[in-house]
Amino acid sequence: MSENQKTFYITTPIYYPSGNMTIGHTYTTVAADTMTRFKKMQGYDTYFLTGTDEHGQKIEKKAAEAGVTPIEYVDKIVAETQDLWKLMDIQYDDFIRTSQERHVKIVQKIFRQFYEQGDIYKAEYEGMYCTPCESFWTPTQLIEKDGEKVCPDCGRPCQPMKEESYFFKMSKYQDWLIDYIETHPDFIQPAKRANEMLTNFLRPGLQDLCVSRTSVKWGVPVDFDEKHTVYVWIDALSNYITALGYGTDHDELFRKYWPADIHLVGKEIVRFHTIYWPIMLHALGLPLPKQVFGHGWLLFGADRMSKSKGNVVYPGPIVARYGVDALRYYLMREMPFGSDGNYTNESFLIRMNADLANDLGNLVSRTVAMIEKYFGGELPAWTNAVDPETDTPLKEHCAALPALVDEQMDKLQFSQALAEIWKVIGECNKYIDVTQPWVLGKDPEKKDRLANVMLTLAECVRFAAVLIGPFMPSTPARIFAQLGVTNENLKSWDSLKSFGILPAGTKVQKGEALFPRIDVNKELEALAGGKEEKKEAKAEEKQQKKEQKAEKKHDEPEFPAEIAIDDFFKCKIQVARVLACEKVEKSSKLLKFRLGLGKDGERTVVSGIQKWYEPEPLVGTQVAVITNLKPAKLAGIESQGMILSAMDDSGNLRLVSVGEGVEDGAIIG
Ligand code: ME8
Ligand code: MG
Repeated sequence: MSENQKTFYITTPIYYPSGNMTIGHTYTTVAADTMTRFKKMQGYDTYFLTGTDEHGQKIEKKAAEAGVTPIEYVDKIVAETQDLWKLMDIQYDDFIRTSQERHVKIVQKIFRQFYEQGDIYKAEYEGMYCTPCESFWTPTQLIEKDGEKVCPDCGRPCQPMKEESYFFKMSKYQDWLIDYIETHPDFIQPAKRANEMLTNFLRPGLQDLCVSRTSVKWGVPVDFDEKHTVYVWIDALSNYITALGYGTDHDELFRKYWPADIHLVGKEIVRFHTIYWPIMLHALGLPLPKQVFGHGWLLFGADRMSKSKGNVVYPGPIVARYGVDALRYYLMREMPFGSDGNYTNESFLIRMNADLANDLGNLVSRTVAMIEKYFGGELPAWTNAVDPETDTPLKEHCAALPALVDEQMDKLQFSQALAEIWKVIGECNKYIDVTQPWVLGKDPEKKDRLANVMLTLAECVRFAAVLIGPFMPSTPARIFAQLGVTNENLKSWDSLKSFGILPAGTKVQKGEALFPRIDVNKELEALAGGKEEKKEAKAEEKQQKKEQKAEKKHDEPEFPAEIAIDDFFKCKIQVARVLACEKVEKSSKLLKFRLGLGKDGERTVVSGIQKWYEPEPLVGTQVAVITNLKPAKLAGIESQGMILSAMDDSGNLRLVSVGEGVEDGAIIG
């Protein structure tokens, strides 16, 4: 590797080994792997770090429940996690565990430095202590039982007690961080998340952060005050530099790769990565990562998949049945990176058939079969029989494809990058329909023309095979085997600078279908584990789909930068009185409203807010409703409008309300 080769350092969060990794963890890890492979293909010197965040009370508790020590507990899950990443074809450079000595030592050193330079101070504060649980609670955390304030965990009485803790002076760095974020627009992506951080946390003012615990034993001990352990987020975030040898005599990797190019994280932990972590780094005198990208959630139904909620999909069975490349493709293709999206078996199977079996698979098999049939399996040489109307647009599009993909990858728009590749694949399939090789093949005088058609297709297939490599690591080799490409130089990113370089005489070889067509219904049944379950699952999926439609409004739309006032006034928003409200039968999401609009009469509206509101107390209140929305059927009920509400990132939802004293039917605007 040359001295001045550009480096690329990417990380995933280090995951809690409290249970096995889900398809959600797999999502981030596949994204990081895909990005790494893409940059590597482009010639970057890459470094990809993942790992596990092993300390804290949750793991302590899980281990105790399982009757093992914390380290025994996490060792097992870490081994299974590493097996899973192998199965998913993840090529990380290092896997850091926060229980490792290399990490613990440096976290202690960092903590001590903060203390010595005055960023951390020790203070006493009073709170309530639950002796049996060894837990310290603030007065607001306690719950009320028989007129007494008790421990929220065990329900037993608490005693007032003084606890000493270490605190980090976050407030000291607040103005610096606001300025940094404002002057570095690429630092937090997508950009809307930067606004959230500024508006919700930074501008209102940062509180000093409690960074030690005496109640947690399974943690990094503060080495100058051993009854304290380091707060898990200080411990966890440090992994991104401890893994590179920061603070040791062997810090070559750190000097080479820091600052990181991208920290990939789910949107729920953007706050830790864009507030605490930059402040920690700045206090250490280190540069900040170039970018923190907060991607969206893979939902299951309308909920975030989570180990604690139990609504989880694991990748193992899917990979066993359909192969790792199909799942990797789906994860990167199905939802735009940054937005939420739903995992359903059905959408996975449909994509497999449409994109992989039909579009890609057919293109490869038709191309190879035709070269066998018309040219005895050997690539002919280019001829003069060019048709500018059909050949040129496809050639030009394909030649431009690497740049189009690169542009999307730079923005981490994996789904768009794949969409660009599939546009060319689609164009190739159309090209076959238009050029009609089977007609050309009947006329010996058209052989020259047919040669160019075959070469154009073969070359497009080569481009596609190279470009899908980072997403689907083992598929290119299967395509190249059929195409007869053995020269590594023809499989490289650099080779895509030239279109039309497959040498004459290359011997193609028909192989088995890349992605066989599957029977979606049969597979759904198999995945659901049997007929009865399948029926239920299908009904549930159908119901979920409908409900999601109802919840579409919370889907984080991409807003245009500005709109005309007339655009706003297209919406007729009115004040409405809730006359009646009830749960929709068979739905866990929907409430059915009868709304009164004063002189504008009454109407029925269905809204997906059951999770947040009991129906009865709403009766008699006023809500805001869009009344000129096209009616839609939800769970079989015609909904004649949409009730307005607000939802934050943590999933808290509240109805929009107007103050007292406005008549029902009043226009809002
Ligand atoms: O938060 N959709 O660990 P964690 C999308 N230890 N991404 C998902 C997901 C889903 N349904 N489920 C999990 C922690 N993820 C801390 C991190 S970093 C210094 C410490 C991914 O096990 C996503 O990347 O709860 C999310 O941020 C992460 O797993 C949370 O993993
Ligand atoms: Mg979490």
